[in-house]
Amino acid sequence: MLDATALADRTILVTGASSGLGRAAAVMLSRLGARIIAVGRNEARLIETAEQLAGTGHLVRPFDLSAIDEIPGWMKSLSAEHGPLRGVVHSAGRHLARPLQMVKPDAVQELMQINVTAALMLAKGLRQRNVFEAPASIVLLSSVMGQVGQAGVSVYSASKGAVDALTRSLALELAAIGIRVNSIAPGQVETEMAQQQRQTLTEEQFERIRALHPLGLGRPADVAHAVAFLIADTSRWITGSTLTVDGGYTAH
Ligand SMILES: NC(=O)c1ccc[n+]([C@@H]2O[C@H](COP(=O)([O-])OP(=O)(O)OC[C@H]3O[C@@H](n4cnc5c(N)ncnc54)[C@H](OP(=O)(O)O)[C@@H]3O)[C@@H](O)[C@H]2O)c1
Repeated sequence: MLDATALADRTILVTGASSGLGRAAAVMLSRLGARIIAVGRNEARLIETAEQLAGTGHLVRPFDLSAIDEIPGWMKSLSAEHGPLRGVVHSAGRHLARPLQMVKPDAVQELMQINVTAALMLAKGLRQRNVFEAPASIVLLSSVMGQVGQAGVSVYSASKGAVDALTRSLALELAAIGIRVNSIAPGQVETEMAQQQRQTLTEEQFERIRALHPLGLGRPADVAHAVAFLIADTSRWITGSTLTVDGGYTAH
């Protein structure tokens, strides 16, 4: 059962903690007793998140995850300083809504690096000796766009399909050492990323997307509850899964 001590004495690294779903996840996990290492590039916004966390002992650690090669070493030094991690939530990510004729290879590479390669390198970092303590759990933020198509978002869709595939293979590779790996596929949730997407749509297009969510658009806490379930022992027998949290979007 999830109660206020479900994550007591557990240190959880949350990427994307400066905004949206990552911030909401950090707040939710802290309410369950976790000590949060809040990661993103914008230190001022990470501090804003830290001010919303329950309990004490949380850390703000600005880091640019596009420095892919440095991720394992950085995680080693974090754990040497602050003790082993019991979980990682990878909520840092980028979106790209662009018709195919305007897609450039550099933008593809940048998006893939943060959405996919950083996820892989965080798992590689966590599995190192003394960096994690079992049982541990990794939760990757995917999207319904990894399961269904939508015109103009092929790069983003491809990255989220890759996250779901990564989840399954990492789960098989890391089960033996006590690390579970799952992903969450949200539908449209009202965050800054969603607001940026909205600016690229007409009112009619936006209303069409809203109407495709039978339960309406999501709130960050709707996804944060799912993160908490997958990080805590409530999901001890679940690995390699993608949990869809989408207000019914993919039920069509
Ligand atoms: N919102 C939705 O409707 C929705 C739906 C489905 C899936 N998702 C997925 O959920 C995740 C979170 O989305 P969100 O809505 O919370 O997005 P958001 O509000 O735009 O936040 C994105 C986060 O990623 C961090 N980030 C981006 N590039 C980074 C880098 N190079 N290094 C470190 N951190 C970086 C940003 O931090 P800094 O700016 O501080 O670096 C920010 O905290 C994403 O993977 C997204 O694809 C969102």
